[in-house]
This record gives sequence, structure tokens and C-alpha cells, in this order.
Amino acid sequence: MSILRSMLFVPGDSEKKMAKGGGVGADALILDLEDSVAASRRPIAREMIHEYLKAADRSRSELWVRINPLDTADALRDVAAVARAKPDGIALPKCNGPADVLQLSHYLDALEIEHGIAQGSIGICAIATETAAAPFTLGQYKGAPRLRILTWGAEDLAAAIGASSNKDAAGHYTAPYVLARSLCLFGAHAAGVQGLDTVQPDFRNPTKLREECNDGRRDGFLGKIAIHPDQVAVINECFTPSEAEIAHAQAVIDAFKANPDAGTLSLDGKMIDMPHLKQAERVMSIARRG
Ligand code: COA
Ligand code: MG
Repeated sequence: MSILRSMLFVPGDSEKKMAKGGGVGADALILDLEDSVAASRRPIAREMIHEYLKAADRSRSELWVRINPLDTADALRDVAAVARAKPDGIALPKCNGPADVLQLSHYLDALEIEHGIAQGSIGICAIATETAAAPFTLGQYKGAPRLRILTWGAEDLAAAIGASSNKDAAGHYTAPYVLARSLCLFGAHAAGVQGLDTVQPDFRNPTKLREECNDGRRDGFLGKIAIHPDQVAVINECFTPSEAEIAHAQAVIDAFKANPDAGTLSLDGKMIDMPHLKQAERVMSIARRG
């Protein structure tokens, strides 16, 4: 399954943005039915997304749809309206834990049968830190059906707990959100799915975006959410291993291949051992985007 470096949110009731989104080089679009679409516009947005999914060129970007949270009446309407056009996946906001993923997966089981779609082909991205209960289940996603991506959000979590802000005076996330981000990262790796870092809403600030991307990549996220087309190229670049990183990873792998009985070796005057080999293999797999 392909790594998705960039997933661009596109409001599902905007013909203009959906038309533009297809051509901006994002690995995936998330056509939104939740927070960026007013409740009164949702019925038309469902139809617009359905039409878009039917007509769009799937070779450019995977096409995902964000539905409304499972505890709203809109959720089932959303998923029923779009699943028939076989999106690559569904993004689930305000996900409380693996039980919510299982419930959505059951909906998809029924809809795939109904519409003659291969069982299990529609994936799930859980936005897994948006309720007060959610952080407590982040270590439990292993084996959750259809789950490809675990991501986190700080805005809805702040609203859920009555925080006046999620950032300190210097603009850094405060402790509760740093914790949620870390648990999401560990949870993704524990579950064997892709960890996706959250949005950088200040979309006219490429320097800040690049800093956040580099932090995310360093920490072990494999991609980041975009909300504006201008963010996509920076995200793709930062989450793609550079030629120098690939060359170094290959050198580490070659050194151990040439010395199959060695547990530790020296390379360019530095010690390398099993964690370095593991990381080198990971860099090569990210470079292959697999
Ligand atoms: N997807 C596709 N196209 C987008 C886009 C997006 N997310 N955001 C902007 N564009 C388009 C605009 O329509 C505009 O197109 P044009 O050149 O044909 O006129 C172009 O990109 C430049 O947009 P710009 O004028 O810089 O931004 P804006 O003021 O129109 O929009 C936002 C700003 C934040 C409202 C917009 O980026 C947006 O809707 N983002 C997604 C919000 C969202 O989905 N949030 C939910 C998840 S947090
Ligand atoms: Mg939200």
C-alpha cells in the first residue's frame, strides 16, 4: 500500500477547489463533508463528491472522503452517498478508538457488497485525537480493519476540553497536544499503519511549514495534511528521502551485507549497529513509497 506523503483537504461543496485539487500533485485529496462544509450544504456536497469520484482521474491522487462523526445522523448518509463511487478511503473525524473504526468498517462491508466493490478495498484514516476520550485508546489500533492511516488534530481536541488555546505565547503546542501527537505517532507504529502529521493552518508561511514537516519526518511521521495547494510541494519534498539520505542508507545496508556476521561496524568513522540498519532499511522503503 502506497505511503501518502501529502493529503490535501478540499471542501466538498466547492466545485472550483475540487477541480483545482486534482492537479496540484497531492498524493491524496480528502474531499470534506465535515467542518469545512456548512450543514445546509451537505446534501449538495454529497452529490458533488459522488460525481467527482465517478469522473476523476485516479492516477494523479488517491481520493478520500471525510465523513461526519459516527455519533451524528449525517455519518451514515455521508458514507452511503459516497461509497458507491469507490473512494480510496474514508477519513473518520472525532474517532474515539478502534471500536469506531470497526463500526465504519461494518458500514463499508455492507456498502461494498451492495455496489459490487471488492471487499475491503475502501481504506480508513482515523483522525484519532479529537475527543477527550480518544488519546486513551491510541495504543489499541493494531488489527483495526481497513486502517491505513492514523492522524491527529489539535483544534477539535482543544474545543473538546475547553482550552482557551492549544499554543503557548511562543506559538508552540502546549503539553496536552504534544502528548496527543506523540501517542498518535507511537500508536501508528504499534498498529503498523502510516502516521500522518496534522495541518499547519498558517498557509501563507512556507518557512513554518517546512520546519513542521522536518520535525514530523525526524520524529517518524510519513506525511502531513495540507489545507492549501501551495503546501503540497513542500510537504512532498520534505517527506521524500534526499539522494544523500538514500546513498547513506544504501552504504549502511551494503556494509552489513559485506559483513554478515558483524553486529556492529564502522562507517565513515562512526559506529553503526542494528538500529542503524533498521533505519536504513526504513529509509529505502520510504523512498520506494511502500
Ligand atoms: N483545495 C483546492 N484548491 C484550493 C484549496 C484547497 N484546499 N484552497 C485554495 N484553493 C484554490 C483557490 O480556489 C484558488 O484557486 P484559483 O487560483 O483558481 O482562484 C487558489 O487555490 C488560491 O487560493 P487562495 O486565494 O490562496 O486561498 P483562498 O482564500 O481561496 O482559500 C482557504 C483559503 C483556507 C479557505 C482554503 O485554502 C481552503 O478551503 N482550505 C481547506 C479547508 C478545509 O478543508 N478545512 C478542513 C480541514 S482542517
Ligand atoms: Mg475539525
